Amino acid sequence: MDNFFTLRTVTWDNGAVKMIDQTALPNRLYYVRFTHPEQVAVAIKTMVVRGAPAIGVAAAMGLALAAVRSKATKLPDFMREMESAAAMLRGTRPTAVNLFWGIDRVMKTAGTASTVREAKEKVSAEAKDMEEEDVEVNRRLGRSGADLIHNGDTVLTQCNAGALATVGYGTALGVVRAAVEQGKLVKVLVPETRPALQGARLTAFELVRDRIACTLISDTAVGHMMSLGRVDCVIVGADRITRDGYVFNKIGTYQEAVLAKRHGVPFYPAAPRSTFDLARSHEQVTIEERGAEEVFQIRGRRIAPRGVPVANPAFDMTPPELVTSMVTERGLVKAPFGENIPRLMS
Ligand code: MRU
Repeated sequence: MDNFFTLRTVTWDNGAVKMIDQTALPNRLYYVRFTHPEQVAVAIKTMVVRGAPAIGVAAAMGLALAAVRSKATKLPDFMREMESAAAMLRGTRPTAVNLFWGIDRVMKTAGTASTVREAKEKVSAEAKDMEEEDVEVNRRLGRSGADLIHNGDTVLTQCNAGALATVGYGTALGVVRAAVEQGKLVKVLVPETRPALQGARLTAFELVRDRIACTLISDTAVGHMMSLGRVDCVIVGADRITRDGYVFNKIGTYQEAVLAKRHGVPFYPAAPRSTFDLARSHEQVTIEERGAEEVFQIRGRRIAPRGVPVANPAFDMTPPELVTSMVTERGLVKAPFGENIPRLMS
């Protein structure tokens, strides 16, 4: 099956960055083209591009734009401009560690150049490499997790950890795609994922497009489905996995993990190396709080009374004791996670 979602979510296009505008999906599918790093920062903040691996690559490309647009003739001036673009991009979303990984990687590359010209070339080459690598890494990750899915299984996911959350192929949905490529019949249960509806809008869009069986459910139906025995395993993506094995992912993931434990269903986060934060433990992670309008409105229409206080944490934290094993491109990580993550991921 090589006709799976072949569109690239983020791509380098002749000195510009092209992205699918995910805010318009599923009703309209089109690309936007950016030539300035400030535009990329806004696109990340407003979720034109979203999903941890995709924003890592997008930020790297934002820096490549800063590099190619720079008029600096001296390396220290060039590096100062790069640092300021990096700071702007770092300020867009706090939870997904891939964002910081992408920025750090490009800045490190820039730091190895001895002329402005060389730095420009190296930085854009690095961003392009990261685009290619992302697809390859996700394919490897998918293959390494495919055996966890048995023929006829129903997989519960959360949010969108698919091709649209990466450059292509996906992490959690990459595992599903790899299982389908092995000839297995797999069905995906897709919670709508309020408030931004990445499940309903994006995961359902990808799966329907790829003719992978799926059923959309409301977020509130998850426990009921598990209690009826309609979920064989849970596979989710991650925005950050700390060195002590805590998984930060889209809000709603934690309740899936608790319910999975209650019903004896295996719970597998799937994430590439770039999502592992070996420098931090779970207490040091900031959970993004997004605008109230995402909750009091649905697609621009108010559904709650004016003046009601709103909380909108965009991510939650699942502790390691609820995790069965983690799927990575380097193989499965098993408990004790605090020991095995640093061993396998360093
Ligand atoms: O707010 P989003 O849409 O960027 O959140 C995305 C998720 O939570 C994904 O599950 C995560 O980034 C993993 S994507 C491969």
